[in-house]
Amino acid sequence: MSTITSLDDRKKVTTRTLRDKKKKGELITMLTAYDYSTAMIVDRAGIDSILVGDSLGMVVLGYDTTLPVTMEDMLHHCRAVARGTQHALLVGDMPFMSYQASVENAVRNAGRFLQESGMDAVKLEGGRDRVPAIEAIISAGIPVQGHLGLTPQSVRQFGGFCAQGKTALAAQRIVEDALILEEAGCFSIVLEAIPSQLASLISRTLGIPTIGIGAGAGCDGQVLVTHDLLGLFERFKPKFAKQFAHLHAAMTDAITAYKNEVESREFPAGEHGFEMPEEYWGELQKAVIQAGNARQGSRR
Ligand code: KIV
Repeated sequence: MSTITSLDDRKKVTTRTLRDKKKKGELITMLTAYDYSTAMIVDRAGIDSILVGDSLGMVVLGYDTTLPVTMEDMLHHCRAVARGTQHALLVGDMPFMSYQASVENAVRNAGRFLQESGMDAVKLEGGRDRVPAIEAIISAGIPVQGHLGLTPQSVRQFGGFCAQGKTALAAQRIVEDALILEEAGCFSIVLEAIPSQLASLISRTLGIPTIGIGAGAGCDGQVLVTHDLLGLFERFKPKFAKQFAHLHAAMTDAITAYKNEVESREFPAGEHGFEMPEEYWGELQKAVIQAGNARQGSRR
């Protein structure tokens, strides 16, 4: 049975809520959403935080990577999600090249997520190299979520979407980066596709919450791409994603049924249309006949 939390029962989730949950040992839930209807469902289900991820480039816009996603793409989807959300903490994902070129550019773009699209915080990828941008964004009053491990905007550097931190040296660097991001003021860090032991170690070491995706059960919370969870995105299935539904198949069945019913004249049925009251229908028929007669008369 589904348990939809009453809209009025919950308080707005803030970065402080996430920190408190970690302190109390309560797990944090996060999911992506890119549109109004999905945001409403995710929010009403009581998910703590909604990420408008640049993964929308792949699962909504059909790109092979997240690299082509622009600020305008992100803000457009963020606005739709903000309209559908009342409680969840809203995190807007800063797209490729919106924060790497200069600190000033990073602050201005981060600000647009809050000022123009109703987000509560931003997320950006990377470790020690991103500290100047992160510190400047935070000092402008904008909460920042970090993202370490498999950071998809570095796919070209990694040579593919492959798990990170699998050697002691690589893992050590990720631990150091996590500590550096905490020190820089991030309110939380997403850990993507790293060994479970490493993610647990980082989660135990940091005071701020870690949110794992493909990082095992030892994180302080979990995030998934909602299209993966729903079985909507069929081009590939990341190893770490679990399909809790099979909506691609369900949608294909529904759309095929629609096609068949239109072609066999089964849809639309009477109940899907609108009827004109008998008296007006009679009047209309008379008027059409009179107009026809008048036209014929004028041609003679
Ligand atoms: O863009 C995204 O959806 C993300 C999650 C995979 C964490 O960054």
